[in-house]
Amino acid sequence: MATNPLPDDETGKHDLERIEIKLLTEGIYRHYGFDFRDYSMPSLRRRIWKRIYAEGLTTISGLTEKVLHDPGCMERLLLDLSINTTAMFRDPTFYASFRKNVVPLLRTYPFVRIWHAGCSTGEEVYSMAILLQEEGLYDRCRIYATDINEAVLQKAKSGIFPIATMQENTANYIAGGGQGTFSDYYTARYDYALFRPSLRENVVFAQHNLVTDSSFNHFNVIFCRNVLIYFNNALQERVMQLFLNSLEMFGILGLGKKETVRYTTVADNYEELDVEERLYRRVR
Ligand SMILES: C[S@@+](CC[C@H](N)C(=O)[O-])C[C@H]1O[C@@H](n2cnc3c(N)ncnc32)[C@H](O)[C@@H]1O
Repeated sequence: MATNPLPDDETGKHDLERIEIKLLTEGIYRHYGFDFRDYSMPSLRRRIWKRIYAEGLTTISGLTEKVLHDPGCMERLLLDLSINTTAMFRDPTFYASFRKNVVPLLRTYPFVRIWHAGCSTGEEVYSMAILLQEEGLYDRCRIYATDINEAVLQKAKSGIFPIATMQENTANYIAGGGQGTFSDYYTARYDYALFRPSLRENVVFAQHNLVTDSSFNHFNVIFCRNVLIYFNNALQERVMQLFLNSLEMFGILGLGKKETVRYTTVADNYEELDVEERLYRRVR
């Protein structure tokens, strides 16, 4: 299938396009309350043009008009704008580092509160639950898993994942330092893998918007991987403040390879536990 190219970035046209995107996101915010105004421009642009072509339109203004008058079109755009790609033990070296550098610290805690911000369909949450069970820590953990998107949270709550992804998940589990047999954690039923209910016993799934909602608890560990990349600098800064306000002293922040606290105003509040995996510990 041929894909429509993005329009050229001719001088002048590019500025006008930015204005149109700003008008679109402002309109969406005022009419529907979804706040994409500070999402990163290149990623917004790509996804908006994808929706324009899919709706049979040719301009951003055309999309703005349709979105504002047709909630169905808004829903379709919403799906385009929220990127939910995830996998179990995604970037396995992160989990290996967590086992080595963070688990020994958590052993000294009587109770551990963990927040997965932007958890998508929950694979990251089930992975951490498996790791914590294997380390004998799960029973003292309470995990809060949040996302802006209610539809992905429903999938996360079900604990049912396509069986076709289990080969990749198993490889990730082993590379991440898994200590058992991955298939022991699920039962295969036709095209799906049903994960053990005990893995979500201590998990609360809830909707939370990192752009507009505030801190809702104090945590010993916060994970937020592959989410901040979709935000511009101002919004990343806001979310970093939110995490700092939500972390206990000596709490752990896990951002994964793509994001960093460096160059933000909270950088001095953290020491690096693993530079590569972007695992930090709050020290002030
Ligand atoms: C690419 S997924 C990352 C999933 C998982 N953390 C991982 O690394 O595999 C990004 C998730 O961030 C969520 N998200 C985007 N904007 C958000 C916001 N403002 N507040 C909370 N979650 C948001 C999306 O709905 C999506 O599920």
